[in-house]
Amino acid sequence: MADTPNQNNLRPETRAIHSRRVYEHESNSILFPIHQTATYVHESVGVLKAGYGYSRGGNPTVNALEQAISALEGTEQALAFRSGMAAITTMCMGLLKAADHVLMSEVVYGGTVRLFQQVLGNFGISYSFVDTNDLHAVKQAIRPESRLMFIETPANPTMMLTDIGAMAEITRAHNMLLAVDNTFLTPLLQNVLDLGADISMLSTTKYIDGHNATIGGSLASHNFELMDRLRLVRKTIGTISSPMDAWLTLQGVKTVPARLRVHCENAQIVAEWLEKNPRVVRVNYPGLPSFPQYELAKRQQKAFGGMLSFELNATTEQAKAFIDALKLTTCAESLGSVESLITNPATASHCDLPKAERERLGISDGLIRLSVGLENPADLLEDFQQALTTVFGS
Ligand SMILES: Cc1ncc(COP(=O)(O)O)c(C=O)c1O
Repeated sequence: MADTPNQNNLRPETRAIHSRRVYEHESNSILFPIHQTATYVHESVGVLKAGYGYSRGGNPTVNALEQAISALEGTEQALAFRSGMAAITTMCMGLLKAADHVLMSEVVYGGTVRLFQQVLGNFGISYSFVDTNDLHAVKQAIRPESRLMFIETPANPTMMLTDIGAMAEITRAHNMLLAVDNTFLTPLLQNVLDLGADISMLSTTKYIDGHNATIGGSLASHNFELMDRLRLVRKTIGTISSPMDAWLTLQGVKTVPARLRVHCENAQIVAEWLEKNPRVVRVNYPGLPSFPQYELAKRQQKAFGGMLSFELNATTEQAKAFIDALKLTTCAESLGSVESLITNPATASHCDLPKAERERLGISDGLIRLSVGLENPADLLEDFQQALTTVFGS
């Protein structure tokens, strides 16, 4: 049987299972094996088999994952990393130098903010945040030394969207690169490269793995020169995925289209239920007609995703008590897994941001972020109702 079916003829669900599939020919095991090795025997001095010399540079199992991710991204190449943050750090170290400037969307993952504020700033890389929904403000924020725009859409945790095509037009005109953190949707629900971005970044920890088994990340681009540079930097700073994590993540890739379909269905049901609940002040979910960027979500995304956030008409203490009272939905950082996960961003992912800044961005102390899992949504709603009753009475 051939290793690689013609990817162009395959639909996404099939592509995730079969496309760029690599077999191991010694036993014909259906699962590609874990090449748990640090190094590789030279065929003769200086002659490497299939280019593999040392697992910090490359590894067959990591390559199998990269092939699978590139099939989802629609690219020739992808790179897999030890974490989403390792992917972002490698991207910044590969593309930026001292005195360069980076423009970022205002609401991004807290770890990304920490990377710029507490690490890259020490290397002379400057950054500024901009409201990416104000095109005039974006153009004004660009400096002669601006090299990269890094955005996240939907943004964590307010779900605010950025028009990727509009940003791509601006970055192209200013000779900048556009990178998009597409962790919340994956290329299956929003192909950022098709929309004009230069680089797609994923924390594969989330939907791609889907089972809370690994921490990982990826970068993909159509630009071969850029991918070569990122591969060199990854090999140099040692941010490549481990073979075991790559193997586990590879199993997740096969079911991600099917899982995403149910995540989206369940999130829509939960969002509509929350919106009708008198205890809920606001629900941020791109699939609700009340969501301020509903039209952009319909235009830019293939579906609305499994993430939402909401605010209770409650004190911060009551909001926390609500989370503690849940029996099924688990309070844990992370998202995109089979189990529903809930957090309070002000005390978790965004705890490093000053309170005033959080409030300005819509991340109130009582904001609750929910990653809707694959449970039967009726069970989730019963769990929310019993937690509301526990905290507020009837
Ligand atoms: C949107 C987003 N980007 C990046 C990251 C970082 O990824 P990782 O935890 O895999 O390093 C996260 C982690 O929560 C995230 O939510």
